[in-house]
Amino acid sequence: MNIAKPLVLLSAMLLISSCNSIPKNSGASLSLKNTYKKDFYIGAALDTNQIKETDPMVTDLIAKEFNSITAENCMKSMYVHPEKGKFDFKMSDQFVAFGEKKKMLIHGHTLIWHSQLAPWMAQIKDSVTMAEAITNHISTIVEKYKGRINSWDVVNEALNEDGTLRKTVFLDTYGKDYLSFAFKLAAKADPKTDLYYNDYNLCNAKKRKGAVELVKNLQKNGAKIDGVGEQAHWNLTSPSLDEIEKTILDFAELGVKVSFTEFDISVLPNPWDIVGADINQRAEASEKMNPYPNGLPDAIQIQLAARYEAIFKIFLKHQDKIDRVTFWGVNDKQSWLNDWPIKGRTNYPLLFDRESKPKKAYYSLIELNK
Ligand code: G3I
Repeated sequence: MNIAKPLVLLSAMLLISSCNSIPKNSGASLSLKNTYKKDFYIGAALDTNQIKETDPMVTDLIAKEFNSITAENCMKSMYVHPEKGKFDFKMSDQFVAFGEKKKMLIHGHTLIWHSQLAPWMAQIKDSVTMAEAITNHISTIVEKYKGRINSWDVVNEALNEDGTLRKTVFLDTYGKDYLSFAFKLAAKADPKTDLYYNDYNLCNAKKRKGAVELVKNLQKNGAKIDGVGEQAHWNLTSPSLDEIEKTILDFAELGVKVSFTEFDISVLPNPWDIVGADINQRAEASEKMNPYPNGLPDAIQIQLAARYEAIFKIFLKHQDKIDRVTFWGVNDKQSWLNDWPIKGRTNYPLLFDRESKPKKAYYSLIELNK
């Protein structure tokens, strides 16, 4: 038998494998959750199909890569509490069962939020009725999943960009203490679950200052707050790495956990840069606004990977302060950023592409912490 031929073949295979971008430690255990298991949880928000496990390939990917899940929509009040006193736990039960089956950290999103709010709650006009509604809502849901949900976003997006309290039906009816009221109710319903305040743009200094005050106020009022979630809907250039680091430090100083709860990086232009209403200009604008309908050019793919890597370097530097980094979706196809702020665009914000294949950004995060 001529052994020269297999040897040549073997060397050719080794050469090919050393040339591609897949890192050396690829194999069954190569995953985000294993790569970062000493640092923080790696989570994903699941949409309805993922919770229902309609695609076994995606289900396997979720179980392999992530050790925490958040419900993207199904626990919001309009779905879970659509009518006064009437709850629909069908999807949230499946969501929790999914996390338990896969032994994941389960995060509940979200109890008190002015958006995707049950219409009956949005119509409340007085503080007594609002107090009853908040009590019934939080106590019923948190008690139902007591001991099964590891952490909750108790209040979501209560702040304006300048750091003042956002005008919502909760503020209008109950007054500013609705926050302490909600956190106290959640703590009573499940004393062991971690309670979070969650918001976006907390890297903006003014809003962050408002969030720091909000947490201090809760603490002063004797409410239990365990963590702050910065949503982290970011883009290729903003926020700056410096602001991201400051955000981690400012919240950690309050003695609470810091989590990045809805992470994604948009690669598309921002529509608010376009002015004028001329029809031609608008057509031009819409093409300009959706520049990669057929695939992301390599140069941008590399830029996205570099941006993810730079941000994760900061996360790693402060891993002692960070509890969880959750991506807002599993793959690019599912991302809300395809429909916001303009409907029907093709965005590429996550680590897995439209076929759920890992992108360069995925490998750069694996390489970073091998
Ligand atoms: O419920 C209808 C369904 O009946 C219909 O078939 C379907 C057709 O498009 O639409 C469904 O509603 C959509 C809903 O998601 C559930 O899929 C809404 O149109 C859509 O606007 C809604 O978007 C969600 C958005 O929150 C609403 O504000 C996104 O999926 C979700 O990713 C997004 O998540 C929020 C976080 O909760 C809080 N932080 C910001 C983040 C991004 O906006």
